[in-house]
Amino acid sequence: MLEIADVALTFWLLLPAYTPNNFAVLVGGGKPLDFGKTFVDGKRILGDGKTIRGSVGGVIGGLLIANLQYGIERLLSFQFFSSLTYQEFLLLVFLLSFGAVCGDALGSFLKRRLGYARGDVFPVVDQLMFLAVAFLIASYSPSFFKLFDLTKIIIAFIITPPLHLITNFIAYKLGLKNVPW
Ligand code: CTP
Ligand code: MG
Repeated sequence: MLEIADVALTFWLLLPAYTPNNFAVLVGGGKPLDFGKTFVDGKRILGDGKTIRGSVGGVIGGLLIANLQYGIERLLSFQFFSSLTYQEFLLLVFLLSFGAVCGDALGSFLKRRLGYARGDVFPVVDQLMFLAVAFLIASYSPSFFKLFDLTKIIIAFIITPPLHLITNFIAYKLGLKNVPW
C-alpha cells in the first residue's frame, strides 16, 4: 500500500531533482551544450534542446529550491534534509540536481541516436531517465540512504511520470514550451 505520508515525503525529497528541468525551461537558450557538434552517426550529439544556460541554470535552480526547503524545515521544525549537516545536505542536493540535468541530457543523447527530433515525445525516457540518473549519481553521497529507502525509490518511479506530464502541460499552457510533453 502507498502511504500518503511516504508519497509526500518522497516528493519533498525529490524537489531538488524535479525543479532543475523547470528552471532549464525558464532560463534555457543560447549556446547548445553540445556546441552544435554531431556524433559519429552524423546526428547532433544532444541537439538544441539542451543548452549551457539551461543546464547551469537548472542546477543552480535546484540548489536554490533545496536551500529554501532546508530553511522551511528549520523554521517549521521538521527534519528530513535538515537531519543532515549542512555540508552533507549540500552534497546530496547538488548530486540530485546535477544528476537530474545529466539524466535529461542522456535521454536527449539516446533520442538523437534513435532519430527523434528535438521535442519529439519518447515515453518513459522523457519522464524517468532524469530520475534514474539522479538516483544513481546521488547514491554516491553517503547521506543518500539516510533519507531514501527502497520504498521511496519505488514510489518515486510511480509518481514521477504523472507529475512530469502535469508540469509540462502547465508549462505548455503558460506558453513556456512548444509541446505539451
Ligand atoms: N532546456 C535547456 N537546457 C537543458 C534542458 C532544457 O535549455 N539542459 C530548455 C530548452 O529550451 C528545451 C526546454 O528546456 O527546449 C524543454 O526541455 P526538454 O523537454 O528536456 O527538451 P526538448 O526541447 O524536448 O529536447 P529533447 O528532444 O532533446 O528532449
Ligand atoms: Mg521534451
